[in-house]
Amino acid sequence: MEAEELALRVPKGFRFGVATAAFQIEGAVREDGRGLSGWDDFTRQPGRILNGDTADTADDHYHRVAEDLTLMKRLGVDAYRFSISWPRVIPDGGHRVNAAGLAFYDRLVDQLLEAGISPTATLYHWDTPLPLEQAGGWLNRNTAERLAEYASVLGSALGDRVDQWITLNEPATVTLLGYGLGVHAPGKALLFDGLPSAHHQLLAHGLAAQALRAAGVKGGIGVTNVHMPVVPASDSAEDALFAQLFDLLQNRIYADPVLLGHYPEVSGPLAEIFAALSEQSAEDLAIIHQPLDFYGLNYYAPAKIAAGGGIATGNSEEAAAMSGLPFRLESWPDHPVTAFDWPVVPEYFGVALTEQVERYGQALPPVYITENGTSCFDQLADGEVADQARIDYLAGHLAAAFEATAPGGPASAMDLRGYYCWSLLDNFEWAAGYSQRFGLVYVDFETLTRTPKKSYDWYRRLIAASR
Ligand code: BGC
Repeated sequence: MEAEELALRVPKGFRFGVATAAFQIEGAVREDGRGLSGWDDFTRQPGRILNGDTADTADDHYHRVAEDLTLMKRLGVDAYRFSISWPRVIPDGGHRVNAAGLAFYDRLVDQLLEAGISPTATLYHWDTPLPLEQAGGWLNRNTAERLAEYASVLGSALGDRVDQWITLNEPATVTLLGYGLGVHAPGKALLFDGLPSAHHQLLAHGLAAQALRAAGVKGGIGVTNVHMPVVPASDSAEDALFAQLFDLLQNRIYADPVLLGHYPEVSGPLAEIFAALSEQSAEDLAIIHQPLDFYGLNYYAPAKIAAGGGIATGNSEEAAAMSGLPFRLESWPDHPVTAFDWPVVPEYFGVALTEQVERYGQALPPVYITENGTSCFDQLADGEVADQARIDYLAGHLAAAFEATAPGGPASAMDLRGYYCWSLLDNFEWAAGYSQRFGLVYVDFETLTRTPKKSYDWYRRLIAASR
C-alpha cells in the first residue's frame, strides 16, 4: 500500500517512532567503564549464537550516534525508543554508578531533544549485569531490588528530560527463552521451573515504577509486553488445552498482574504448572500493580499450537529447544513467512489489540505499539535495498491496527497513541547473530556503512503525509 494512502487512516496526533536496544546496536562493550552483562558472557559460550557472532561491535552505535541521529531526523520520527545498558551505568549491578556510562545517555537525551525527537527510554532490554546473572539472575529476588536502585539513578539523572519510561522489555521472552528453553542468556533450560523468573521481573517492574515516581520523573511510566494471539491447531480438546497453556505462558501471566493486580486463575490440569505464581503474596502483587501512564505492546506474529512434543515448523534454536515440551508450534501454510519463518498474518495484529480490550477493559491505559517489524532476506544491490516484503508487512500491520481501533472497530475502546517500528538499524539479533535483518536501514557489518532501505523511504513518506 502506498504510504500516502495509509496516511489517510492515521489518527490525529499519532506518534511515529523507531525502536532499538543497547546490546543489539551499541558495541563498545569494554569502553567507558562498562561492565559485562549476562549476554556478553552468553555470546562467548561456544554454540550459543549462530556463526559464533558476538555483539562486541554490533552497529558501533556508541561511536556513531551523530550519524544515527541524522538518519532519524531525515526519517522525521516523533520519538526514539532506545534502551539504557544497565552494566554501562552500574557495572557490577550493585551500588556504584559509572559516571562516564551515564553521561553517554545524558548526551543522547539532549541530542534527541535538540533534534525535536522525544526520548523513550527502556531500563531493561535483557542486559543483566554479569555479577547479578551469576548470582541467579531473575531467579533471585535481589535482582528486582537492584533494578529498582538503577531506576532511581536514572530517574534522578534523566527524569527532567525523558518523555516516556519503559521499565522492562518483554519479560515473557526473558522467561521463556532465557530460563525456560535456554536459547537466550542465561541459557537455563528449566522449562516450567523457570517461571519464578517471571515473578521477579514483574516485581522489578513494580519497584522500578515506584522508584521512578519517587525520583519525580516528568515523563510517563509504562512496561512493554509482547503479545501473541494463540489459536489451537484443531478443534480437539487437547489442542485447546495447550493453546490455553501457551496463551498463559506467553501473554497472560505478564499482563494480568500488571493491569489487574493478580495472576490468572488457572484450574484443572494446568494449575500445577502455575503453582509457583499463584502462591505469591498479596504484597508483591500490590507492588506489581502500579498505576501506568501507558502500556507498551510489541507485536510480531500469532502462534498456532498443537498438542504433542516435537516441532513442526521453525528454523530457530528455539524451535529445537521446544521439542522438550508437551506441545508444538504449527505452521500457517496459507500465509507467507518472514526470514525468521514467522507467519505474516496482519489481521492477527487486530486480534491482539482486540484481545487486550476484551481482557483488560477499563484497566488498560493508553497503548503504544513499542515494537513491530520483520526480518527479510535483504540484499544490497547498486546501493539500494528493495525490501518490498518489509513495506508490505508494515503497511498491512498498521492498516490492521487502525482498522481494529477505529470507531466501530472491535478494539475501538483502545486509546492507541503511537507506533515504534522495529528497528532503525539491522543489528545483533540475539541467538540469530547478524543473520536476521530487521532494520529500515541496512548495515554492512564489515564496514558498518548505513544504507537506508526502500522501507525507510516508505516510512518517511508515511510520517510526512500523516502530519
Ligand atoms: C525484542 C527485540 C528483537 C525483536 C525481533 C523482540 O522480541 O524486543 O530485541 O530484536 O523482537 O526478534
